[in-house]
Amino acid sequence: MKKIVIAIDGPSASGKSTIAKALAKTLHYAYVDSGAMYRAVTLYFLENNIPIDHPETVATALPKITIRFQRKEQGNRTILNGQDVESEIRQMRVSEYVSQVSAISAVRREMVRQQQLMGKHKGIVMDGRDIGTVVFPEAEVKIFVTADIKERARRRYTELNKKGIQVTYDAVLENLHERDRIDSTRAVGPLRKADDAFEIDNSHLGLEEQLELAIKIVETKIGEKM
Ligand code: DC
Repeated sequence: MKKIVIAIDGPSASGKSTIAKALAKTLHYAYVDSGAMYRAVTLYFLENNIPIDHPETVATALPKITIRFQRKEQGNRTILNGQDVESEIRQMRVSEYVSQVSAISAVRREMVRQQQLMGKHKGIVMDGRDIGTVVFPEAEVKIFVTADIKERARRRYTELNKKGIQVTYDAVLENLHERDRIDSTRAVGPLRKADDAFEIDNSHLGLEEQLELAIKIVETKIGEKM
């Protein structure tokens, strides 16, 4: 079957990574979580005291950062300069700082370059904010995943509670509003639905239904049945 590039974008907690992972598994494609790359850069900056308001130090630091992914039984692992940082990049100190780091244009340029290399041979599903608009504007399939903000907040709240993290629903809702605002208003690579993206609003859809929809989109685009 013809190999293609599938770009999946959407706001925080929209469930885009769940659908992206399921689609990659079904198609036997590689899956790349571009958000994990911005998180890995953020972790590197924190651990190496890189001041984000000092462009020269940022520019010197970027070539020293190598990010790759490893597929394991228990899921994808993010490897930063040879070290598994999958847990560290999900910590609050990283989540709180990543929006600022991902707004730096030199950082975005380098990440986009690395992401484009990963997609060179196609057969890839990548999710993020600017995948269909900036990273792969020529992607054969683009999907924009959305959900009602209250539903997204409810899901994130339940997820955090399960992990034993004490937080109120209102705080989660407020944080999502703020992240949506920062992600969609930044000057470079803002969160935006590509004109040719297919939108899936999953406020009332389960994973099976979304996967069915996504597979139909892929089949239509490549003109082959799976
Ligand atoms: O998807 P996530 O929440 O793990 O993403 C972490 C941060 O990285 C989020 O603040 C948005 C940013 N990001 C980005 O700017 N561009 C991408 N392609 C993916 C994520």
